[in-house]
Amino acid sequence: MSTFTVRPASLATNDDAFLLECFDSQIKWLPSVGAGDQWGSEPVSGEPDTQNRYRKYVQTSQDGERQPWGEDSCRVYIAEANDQNGKAVPVAGLILTAKASDYVQSTIPAQDPTDPFIYMPLLISDREKGSLSKGAGVTLIEFAKKELVMLGFKRLCCDCWSGNERRLVQFYESKGFKALASFTHDGWPGQVLELRLE
Ligand SMILES: CC(C)(COP(=O)(O)OP(=O)(O)OC[C@H]1O[C@@H](n2cnc3c(N)ncnc32)[C@H](O)[C@@H]1OP(=O)(O)O)[C@@H](O)C(=O)NCCC(=O)NCCS
Repeated sequence: MSTFTVRPASLATNDDAFLLECFDSQIKWLPSVGAGDQWGSEPVSGEPDTQNRYRKYVQTSQDGERQPWGEDSCRVYIAEANDQNGKAVPVAGLILTAKASDYVQSTIPAQDPTDPFIYMPLLISDREKGSLSKGAGVTLIEFAKKELVMLGFKRLCCDCWSGNERRLVQFYESKGFKALASFTHDGWPGQVLELRLE
């Protein structure tokens, strides 16, 4: 398995575009594990709304890098691995936010002052990088746990698609997450999960 380094995302290194390349690569790959309905079959990297959304994530992350964590905070991180020429290349991305994603807010509150959490709206690897990216997602979960500790939190929440016999839910459960509530958004079956640090 590759050795990964994790760095904050930046617009200067086009990390917003990289995250969309990750989506395109996974949309091509997901049918091979029975998950073709997770994100549909069309590439998203050319969609202006999606481009804007991810540019905003990276911009907010960059702007807030040296600021304390607040109610609108967001951090975007990129995992890199060295290719066969020893060059560091991006292989996966992680987004952490102070609020739960809009579409789960009928399931869990945007934030819970009595049991605060950090939300993980995105964890994704670049399938085009082949074996170089293998394990990068798990590395980023470990990184997120350290970030949580640093920011004074003990709870990491996320959601994922629960179709395909819950294979993705099982992936998160195998990494220590526990299933909370399930939901359906526009016909898309989802599961909210949480990971608690001791
Ligand atoms: C989740 C992810 C970042 C983990 O990356 P990683 O640490 O390199 O781990 P892998 O890609 O090897 O995935 C681990 C296992 O989960 C499975 N898996 C990953 N995503 C899956 C999905 N969406 N549906 C079903 N199975 C999935 C893989 O097939 C693999 O199974 P295996 O161990 O039997 O080979 C990466 O697999 C990914 O980007 N998946 C697709 C996008 C996605 O669903 N992200 C989560 C959004 S909530």
